[in-house]
Formats: sequence, structure tokens, C-alpha cells
Amino acid sequence: MNLIKDVFQITRDKKSDSQWLLEHVANIHRLGKSPEIFLDGHGNIFNPITTLKLCALEYYVNLYTRVLNEENVRLNHWNGIAFLDVFAGSGLNLIGKNHSPIAGSLPIAVKCHFQGKSCSHPFNHYYGIEKDQNHFNALEARMKSLGVTQNSTIKHDLAENALPEIISDIEKNNYHYLAFIDFEGVKGLSKEKMDSLLKIKGDLMITHILSERRTLGRAKKGMGDEMILEKKYGEGVLEICETEDDLQELYISNIKEHDREHIITINIESGNGYAYRLIFAIRNTKGNSQFIPGILALKKRIEAFSGVDAQHIINQLDGRMSRLPEI
Ligand SMILES: C[S@@+](CC[C@H](N)C(=O)[O-])C[C@H]1O[C@@H](n2cnc3c(N)ncnc32)[C@H](O)[C@@H]1O
Repeated sequence: MNLIKDVFQITRDKKSDSQWLLEHVANIHRLGKSPEIFLDGHGNIFNPITTLKLCALEYYVNLYTRVLNEENVRLNHWNGIAFLDVFAGSGLNLIGKNHSPIAGSLPIAVKCHFQGKSCSHPFNHYYGIEKDQNHFNALEARMKSLGVTQNSTIKHDLAENALPEIISDIEKNNYHYLAFIDFEGVKGLSKEKMDSLLKIKGDLMITHILSERRTLGRAKKGMGDEMILEKKYGEGVLEICETEDDLQELYISNIKEHDREHIITINIESGNGYAYRLIFAIRNTKGNSQFIPGILALKKRIEAFSGVDAQHIINQLDGRMSRLPEI
């Protein structure tokens, strides 16, 4: 009963969208600047749109660990929950031309879990994969600084190579996973590996990049991108898909075939003509019916803004003059 009340509170929250965004950007900004995460300041350099994606992750990690608490983990007969970051980055993002620090995805998963009185259930294990040596070193140092080395497995490798061992480990430990699959582009994770991840129990949050339209255009003209698309979407993709919405639909229909009955997409806009979608894919498990209203409330908040608004907020937090967005 309490859990249901909590989510209704989120949904009915009278806070304005601007206040909500300010609070969430401030959380991940504060975290990014904190001594335990900032360290030597090495980070992934990204545009302000990344801030909205990470606000969504911060909110979802909190909701996820609130809903899948110890009681629900026990009711589902799991040994625990795990966070899997397939394209993990360095643990710190440097945003916009001023390189303002915003915490990266794994530190968010470690620090932004629900810490209520009645239940507190952070992830039991953190898995991450990062191909770049410098990002990997920085991420390892940050996980050490956060004191979670014993509970983490960070691989310096390509996702395609590292995933099979991680999947076996999650399965062997009987964890239920939340996977964050933060694609940088089309490449990096084949349909074959995605299917093997979908075969074991867990939920997913995926960044679907809309610029795949260009790849589709080149592939249709036989300009060499056919293999790239087939690897990610499967054989026959070029016959089935005419637009990037078709690509997304095909991707989602494959996820649905693997018993992820609830799919919600959130549109993330840069404000400068660039956009991507977050795909939330959720299994039916005991106690998780609160996810849907929670993610729908998140969708309403995030889609009210663009990366330009996020940059205004960061400017304010950094003490540079900028008006907060008004909705
Ligand atoms: C979008 S960034 C990740 C940011 C991170 N998830 C965050 O939100 O803080 C993608 C990261 O994946 C890494 N990467 C790209 N392709 C990869 C691959 N095939 N295997 C493993 N890592 C990869 C890049 O070096 C980059 O650091």
C-alpha cells in the first residue's frame, strides 16, 4: 500500500516541471562535483542533452530501488538486483562548452538509489563495460572511491565481447538486472547479444539514437551500411524498414517478443534539431506495477524540456547568469 501511495505522490506532485528539473539537474551536478566522483576531472565530453538523459536515469534508479525492495526481491525468489551499464563511460560527464561536471551513469546507480526509512535496497552488484582505456581507468577509480569495488565488475572491453560472461554471472547469481544500454551510435551491440541479454530476467533502459536514419539511407543505397544495420536489427531490416520510426518499432517488437510486456518511450530533444529516444522495457514481476505510472510521470516532465533548458539550469547552478526555463 505504501509503495502505491509513493508513486501516486510522484504522479500528482504539484511541483512545477521547472522546479522538478532544477532539483534533478542539481542532484547529478552536485554529485559530479563531489570529491569522491570528480577525482582528476577526466570525463566524457557531451552536449547538454545528455543532462536530460541522466536526470531520467537518476529518477528511474530511485524508483527502481524503491519498488524492487527487499520484500519484493524475496517474493520474486531472486538473490538480489544488479545494475548493468553496457556502454559505461568514465563515470563523469563534462557538459557544454564550460565542461560542467555531471555524474555519469554508474555513479548515479551507486548513489541515487532510494534511501527511505521503510526499505532501502541498493543494487547488490554493478556491472560495467567500457572500451576506451582512459574512460575505463577513470571509471575504476571512481567505483573504488565510492567504496563499491567488492560489489562491482568493470570490464575494459567491447560490449560485444564482455557481455556473455556478465550474462552468465548475473544468471548464476540469480540477480534481476536493470540494464542501461547507452548507445553512442548504431554500432556496439548485435541483435544476437541483445537477445541473449533479453533471455535472462531483467528490465532495460535503452538510448535509441534517431540519427540512424542516415545509416538507413546509406544502406538502402547499397553504400556499405547494410551489415551494420543487420547486425543490430537482424536480417531483413532493409526490406521491413523505410524510416527511423520503423527501425525503432522493429527494435521494440523484438524486445516485446522476449516477455517485456511494458514498453514506454521518452523523447529527448536537444533544442538544436537533434533528438533521441529512451526506451524503457519492463518485465511483469511481483510488485513492479508502480513502474508504469512512475515512468509516465517522468515522460511528462522530461518531454517538457530540451537540452537548451538543461544548459540554462547548469549555468544558474554554476553561478553564470541565465534565466530558468518557464513552462
Ligand atoms: C554515451 S557514452 C556513455 C556514457 C555513460 N553511460 C553515462 O551516461 O555516463 C558511451 C560510452 O561507451 C563507450 N563505447 C562505445 N562503443 C563501445 C563498445 N562497443 N563497447 C564498449 N564501450 C563502448 C564509449 O567509449 C563511451 O565512453
